Formats: sequence, structure tokens, C-alpha cells
Amino acid sequence: MDSNKGSLLLALLVIVYASAVVCLSQDGEGGGNDQTGQQQEPLKKDVLGSTSLASLSSSARLGAPGRAMMNFSSRHYALLGTKALHDDPFVINRLEVIPVRNITTRLEHGVEISVSPSMLLRSGEWVTVSWKGVKEPSVYDWIAVYVPADADPSKVAPVKYKMACNHPDHVKYGSGSVQFRLLNMRDDYRFVLVRNWGTKPVVISRSNTVAFSNYDEPTQIHLALTGKQGEMRVTWTTRGRGRAPYVRWGMTAGDYTSSSPANTTTYTRTEMCGGPARSIGWVAPGYFHTAVMNGLTVGTNIFYSVGDDGYAHSNPKSFYVPPNVGPQSTVRMLAFGDLGQAEVDGSNDMAESMEPSLLTARRIIRDAYMDDDSRRQYGLLVLHAGDISYARGYTCQWDVFFDEIEPVASRVPYMVSVGNHERDWPGSGSLFQVEDSGGECGISYGRRLPMPLPSLPPPLSPLIVHPSSPVLRSRKLLSSSSSSSFSSFLTLFGMKETTDVLLEGEAEVESANNALKNAGADTPWYSVDYGPIHFVVMSTEHDFKAGSAQFSFLEQDLASVNRRRTPWVIFSGHRPMYVDSTDDRPVQGDNPVAEQMKRWLEELLMTYRVDLAMWGHHHTYERTCAVYRNKCVPPNSDGSFNAPVHLVVGMAGAGTCDNVRPVTPEWIEYLNTEQHGYVRLMVNATHLGYEFIGNSRGEILDRGFITRRFLW
Ligand SMILES: [Fe+2]
Repeated sequence: MDSNKGSLLLALLVIVYASAVVCLSQDGEGGGNDQTGQQQEPLKKDVLGSTSLASLSSSARLGAPGRAMMNFSSRHYALLGTKALHDDPFVINRLEVIPVRNITTRLEHGVEISVSPSMLLRSGEWVTVSWKGVKEPSVYDWIAVYVPADADPSKVAPVKYKMACNHPDHVKYGSGSVQFRLLNMRDDYRFVLVRNWGTKPVVISRSNTVAFSNYDEPTQIHLALTGKQGEMRVTWTTRGRGRAPYVRWGMTAGDYTSSSPANTTTYTRTEMCGGPARSIGWVAPGYFHTAVMNGLTVGTNIFYSVGDDGYAHSNPKSFYVPPNVGPQSTVRMLAFGDLGQAEVDGSNDMAESMEPSLLTARRIIRDAYMDDDSRRQYGLLVLHAGDISYARGYTCQWDVFFDEIEPVASRVPYMVSVGNHERDWPGSGSLFQVEDSGGECGISYGRRLPMPLPSLPPPLSPLIVHPSSPVLRSRKLLSSSSSSSFSSFLTLFGMKETTDVLLEGEAEVESANNALKNAGADTPWYSVDYGPIHFVVMSTEHDFKAGSAQFSFLEQDLASVNRRRTPWVIFSGHRPMYVDSTDDRPVQGDNPVAEQMKRWLEELLMTYRVDLAMWGHHHTYERTCAVYRNKCVPPNSDGSFNAPVHLVVGMAGAGTCDNVRPVTPEWIEYLNTEQHGYVRLMVNATHLGYEFIGNSRGEILDRGFITRRFLW
């Protein structure tokens, strides 16, 4: 037996075991019959048999995080006889484990599968799939779900699947039923019963189809800032281009007094750069409509509906118009990276690495508006720092992602930066020549999530002070362990804040939205003002060296910030500049990338007094001291600026990483490799508070604040 055959056999055994595990956990007895009819051993370890949210722990339920996921991924790829399509060993797309091109169809007489109901009114309704007559049933039988209904299983991946043995009768009697929740993916569904989970699946029966009553039902509704005060962008998806899609809004649900037309776009299969995006993962994405609500009054609660006369309109949604840009405003942020998505109906039970995403999304939704104070969403912004859906070429995963976040993204602006799993593809212009996007190469990301375009700042204003000017001062990082100080801070936050900031005579330095002539260009970096904060968002997947277009933008933008108007500057991107990681792979490893980031960008952050930098990619929560050139910079005696603080917030849902150094770097003040969650920021003119929230119980795992006195 050569080593390859040995690896394949080992992988098969692992999959067989995993398959049995999924089924055994369902019958609640810890035992059952395998394919040969022999009694199997009870389970010895915790596995995901049900996706009940209440049963999920904060960390992924795959045992040890990080490394365990790497093994899980590797053995699936070994099973398929292929190498990974991406270089991130920690997470896989749940549909990548299916050997699509090995699937054959050999319908078996007497086997029936059906689904009910066959017509659905709304996205997200449930159906029951029933089957009977399976001879020699086994734990390897599975139910695959296809859109469109006439998709060829040997050419197109299912949009999801469940093991048939989720029903306890299957292995004994060859019959059973399971439930699925179906999103409106703009075409009919069909379910097929398949033998042989593993290398050579065979379709043995096909169901009736399930249709939606209206394929132009608006879905995937999400908001974003435009960069202009009093505006809010909304984007949604339908099957067709429509006639005249628009958004209408007003102060009361159903009583809309204003409207604005939408621009419409989509992307085609041929625009994809390769991989599953261009082949087995392709499902027509529909059309994306985006419209801007304008003339909005700060603080008002706006009700809106999107749609198209003669097609469909959405139910009313609402949001609070963000506070004025300026130091007088108080805002909150929920920030994270690497959220991913998961199916709430328990589908895809052979690859469960992103279930924690559901808990984080639910916790964020609750944080945004479901707690006691209905105005909590006022002044709230979500920032998702790259690795958005992990669709990686499988269109349907974008549908699942937007369904997961819509409850919050349709009510507060959802701002994003691009990650390797949206952008990277060899020869496509990405900085890293890897296949992490599954062939999407940034097209899907750019069309689905319109962000402010890179603005071209005006020439430096006379009010822009030189970095060495003494008027830039008074910044101090306080210890996060100072709970009494933190209470004072919270008390302060509840007060009406007055500052000694002088705005009189200020020449506004607007970032101006000087849109690039080539709208839609591959330039996913931008800046935007929000309350007292100037956000700068970069793409770590594009060239950022001095002389690059991105570097020029970042330098000009940072140099142009009017700190009297936005006293805080927060910088964000996907791959971290400071990270505790053992990933030393050449070029795209965490540490080589961090070194390049420091080489080209750290001086900018230091020179222009960036207060906070937030990154994703590494699936941990990490907080540094105020750091510069790998050294903690102690607070100055006069409280003036010392150095930026960095947060790695890649722990939202797509697994956790434990590949950290044996000896923690001195610049790390807090490190958590096990908890999924997100970061909550609270910012007013003088205080920036941060909290790391665990996603299971909402517990605060790390917190602290940065203060400053404004003397400029
Ligand atoms: Fe990443």
C-alpha cells in the first residue's frame, strides 16, 4: 500500500466515522446499525448533531479549535483526492466537501422522495422532505438540495444537504423525513436522495419541485453609509432587473413621503475568474439594486420599503438617522471580522465549522435593537473587517450570509472591508496569488456591498496641522483592569458632554465624495466620517506599498483629517499589522504580511495619530498596548499621543485559531484564542471605550478605554 492509498483510506475511515457520528447523535441512544448491520460504539465525544442555537457553545464544537479545523479540512480534501482550493487551512466552505463531478444518477425503482408544501410565500419558510422505499439504507445516504430544480448534480453543487439518518427510521426502515428552511434563491428547488456520502455518490430518487410565489421578493436588504451627512444607502436583491426599482421612506410605517430610484447591477458567470465561482458553485445571483435615501434629519426614525411597482415591495424596515459628524456626537460600533455564515436548519452536517457565526449574528442583533431600549440602534455602526461570507465561489452562501445579517444590516449601516476570501485569485490583480476567493476575485463583494468610493481629498487645508505641532496632544491609554475608572467612564458617557473643542472659524475639510471616474474600479478602500470618528478602510489584498494608488489615497486621506471635526481616527483592514501568530509561510503568512504592513504603513499610522487599528483574518481576539515598531510606547507625562492601539477581531464565527507563539509578544496586552464574539466600541469626543463580547452569554471578556483631552 503506497502512502497515497493509505491517506485516502484513512480519510475515508474518518468520513465514515464522522457520518456515523452525525446520525448516532440524532437517535439519542448512542448506538445504531452501520452499513453492515453491526452495532456501533456509543459516542465518546461531543459532536454537532443538532444546530439548536441553545445547544451551541461559544467556540466551535469541533473539539480543540484551530488545529482541529485544519485536520477536518485536510481530511475532506484528501477524501476528494484534491488539494485545498485556498490556502487558509482553518476553514472550509461547507459545500467544498462534495465531489460534484463524481456524482452519478441511477434512479432506483420503488424509492420515493417528496416535499411539502410545494409553494412558498416568503423567503425563509420551512418544508418537510419525506422518503420511503430505500433498500439497504445506510448512514451514508443523504438528501441534497438543488437550485435551480433542473440542475445537473454532476455539474452543480447542491445549495445544502442533510444526512438521511437525521431521521431515526432511515437506517432501520429506509424511510424518514427531515425539514429544511428555504431562502428565496430566485428559482425552483428540488431534493434528491443520494447514496454513498464520500467519493462516488449516486442519485437514486428525485422529488417534486418547490416554488416561491414571487421570485422578485426583495431579499438581502442592507444599509451602508454613503459618506454624506443625512444620507443612507440601501441595497437589495431580486431575480429580475425589474422595471423601476426604488426605495420609499417616511416617518411612519406605510406612510412614505419620499422616494429615490435605484441603480441596478449584477454579475455574470464569465466575470468570475475561475474555480467553483465559474463552475460548480454558480447559481444566478439575481440583480442588486441600490438607492440612496437623502435629506434625512439627524436622530429621526425612518421607515422604508424597497421594491418595484408591479413586482413586490418589502415589509417596512426602520433605522435611526446617524448623529451629526462632529465631536459633539456619541456613537457606538460593533466590529468584527471573519463572520461567515451557517444554516439555521442544521443543514450541511458534515462540515460545521461556522456555526458560531449564528450566535454572533444573533448577539449583534440583540445588541443593536432587541434589548430594552429601542433607541440603542441610534448612533450604531457595524464594521465587518473582511472575510465576509466565505462563499468562495458558491453563490448560495451569499444568500445564507445576507439572510443571517439582514435583521441588523437592514437597521444600522453595515460597513465592510475586503478580505482574502472575497478577493484573492491568481492573476486577477490581487496582491496575493492564492485561490482564497474561489474564483470570485472581488466581483461578488464589490457588486453586493457598495461602499463609499475612494475620495480624493482636497489639497491640505491651512488648518491641517503638521504632525509635530504641539496642538496635537493629550492622549492616554488607561489600563483595562481599572474597573472603577471604567465605571466613571460609563457614567461620563451617560452625561451630556461638553468639550472645549473650538469649531468656530473652522474650514470644513470634506472628504467630498469625489468619486473616481471609473466607478466600480477595483479600489475597495475608502474613508468615511461617523460622529466624532474618521474611519479609514484599506484593502490588504491590494498593493499598499509607497507609490501605489492605495498608499497615495491613505496618505492623502490621513493627512487631510480635520481633527477638530473628527477627533478620533480609526483605521481598519483585513490582514493584521500586529498579530500573535506562528504563520510564517512565505508572502501570505500572517507574519510576513504583518512585516510588510509595518514597513509601508506603520509610519502613516504613527505620523497621523491613528488612535485605533482593527483587523481580522487571524481568528482570535488580540489587543495590543499602544505600540510602535514592536515596542510598547508608554503614555507621555502630558497625556499626549503615544502610539496606535491594535485590535485583532477575527473571532466572529468562522472558527478560532490557536496558532499563537509559545511566548506571547510583549506588545500583546490581551489574547483570547477560544471565544467567538465581537467588539463593541463607544466613542464620544473624549473617550473611546472598547469591550470584547463573548457570543454565547454576552459576557464582557475584555474592556478598557482610551481618553484624551482636546486642546487643539
Ligand atoms: Fe482572511
